[in-house]
Amino acid sequence: MQPKFLGAIVAALAAVFLLAWKTPVTQDGHSESALHERMEDLNSTLRRVNRLVKDKQKISEAVDLVVEMEHDVLDAKGEVPPRADKLEGAVRDSFVLGYRRDMIKLLVMLTELEMACLEGNTDAAQAVVERLVSHRNASHELYQDEE
Ligand code: HEM
Repeated sequence: MQPKFLGAIVAALAAVFLLAWKTPVTQDGHSESALHERMEDLNSTLRRVNRLVKDKQKISEAVDLVVEMEHDVLDAKGEVPPRADKLEGAVRDSFVLGYRRDMIKLLVMLTELEMACLEGNTDAAQAVVERLVSHRNASHELYQDEE
């Protein structure tokens, strides 16, 4: 076999291994979506933020975490929830548009939260977290797949 082809085969195999390694697989053997991963990240960061914003001495530590969440939301905003696969035509279009709008609303809330944390305003920050959690719950009702 020519070295050129051998090189191509090795590169292709390496790409397959890399993909398999990068794609998380659930216990029942299904691949998790990139969106799911961003959501899990958002969840664990929100827990830490929620603790920090209650404490005047620690609220400034929340700033970088909130910025991390903003990046996660920017990524998630470009994804399409798996539930869209079950829809077609205009219904699917309005589902995807609604999802995007609600992601943008979340991003706006996060920038408000960032501002409150920068200002050291624990009351304002906790109020934003409360709104954010209601928005999360309402959005999950609309866009998460029913099991
Ligand atoms: C900071 C706010 C949010 C947090 C902490 C969060 C957290 C999570 C978590 C932990 C999951 C996985 C749940 C499970 O597997 O049972 C999830 C899934 C999901 N969330 Fe969120 N979420 C937030 C906001 C939103 C918003 C605003 C939307 C829609 C605009 C949304 C749409 C979804 C969708 C579609 C899934 C299913 C993803 C999939 O399985 O591929 N989430 N979220």
